[in-house]
Amino acid sequence: MEDSITALPKEINVTTYNLALIGFGGVNRALAELIRDEPQRFASLGFELRVVAITDLAFGSLVQGDGIDLAAVLAMPRGSSFDGLPGGSSDPRNEEVIKNSPADIVVEATFTSPIDGEPAVSHVKWAIESGRHVVTTNKGPVALHGTQLSKLAANNGVRFEYEGAVMSGTPVIRLAHKMLGGLELNAVQGILNGTSNYVLGRMEAGLHLDEAIAEAQALGYAEADPTADIGGSDVRLKVAILANELLGATIHPNDVETTGIQDIKSDDVAQALTGGFRWKLIGEARRESDGSITASVQPIALPADHPLAGISGATNAVSFTTDLLGAVTVSGPGAGRVETAYALISDIIAVDEFAKGAVRA
Ligand code: HSE
Repeated sequence: MEDSITALPKEINVTTYNLALIGFGGVNRALAELIRDEPQRFASLGFELRVVAITDLAFGSLVQGDGIDLAAVLAMPRGSSFDGLPGGSSDPRNEEVIKNSPADIVVEATFTSPIDGEPAVSHVKWAIESGRHVVTTNKGPVALHGTQLSKLAANNGVRFEYEGAVMSGTPVIRLAHKMLGGLELNAVQGILNGTSNYVLGRMEAGLHLDEAIAEAQALGYAEADPTADIGGSDVRLKVAILANELLGATIHPNDVETTGIQDIKSDDVAQALTGGFRWKLIGEARRESDGSITASVQPIALPADHPLAGISGATNAVSFTTDLLGAVTVSGPGAGRVETAYALISDIIAVDEFAKGAVRA
């Protein structure tokens, strides 16, 4: 008797998606490496990925409809240019490439502007308006214009997916949407910045704030300018995204009252630990009894039995407060190039489900 494996059809239809990578820094390079090295990972999902365009402030732009040789471009040293390659230019030509390349999916991974979300907001709009799906890890466009961009995508019959905007590849947004159906979600509380959590942990071990920040920078967790990590503005963007996405709020990041950990002293942290409490930088959005949504970022000394108290190091976590299950908590990486590239893969899977009719807009 045939087993279930051999009974499967011999030929599985594999769809090819053409990608345009906008930004060729750590995250999109990690995605390109996975596509180069692990095609079987995608084949088992029922699709293959072909990169047909890359734009980058440093390298310029490269468009090759038959597929770019990823091994070759990944080997190019920083400081070199796509100029001179067939379809290459030293100019990023973002608008032209996004609107005219043969890409089905635009992968936006440029830097985050917390002020106006640009230039990423324009990248997303150009892509959607020219009929391309967008997957992004960029917090700026989602925190500042997420609702409008999602509507624009729905009106244009394409997907706008952004799992990596919060907690990199750890599936917070999709998990809440897909797995918490039928529950009333009343609050979201999280440790949403790996650097500040790492720093607070090291202060528990006796380091001063500045020493702990220097360690976090050396380990690659903190930004080159760690103000956004320590001052809470990175978490503010993530809280705005979670409040709008999961609690149906319509808040701007500026509406999120924000205090960072810059004034926490090593003595405060050590004293709290002795009493069984742990200081954590907590981002929170909550539905109040009058139905309004409040959101904040602030350091809180959590009791040991709180679901977020045991989250250590650069790990992130989110705890959902639900009516039937109480607290549901998910923890995992919140940063890292491969971890964030995985968020893009999970977004491409969502695009594929949509394209194959498994999910309605
Ligand atoms: N610097 C951020 C962190 C990276 O430490 O969590 C992800 O936004």
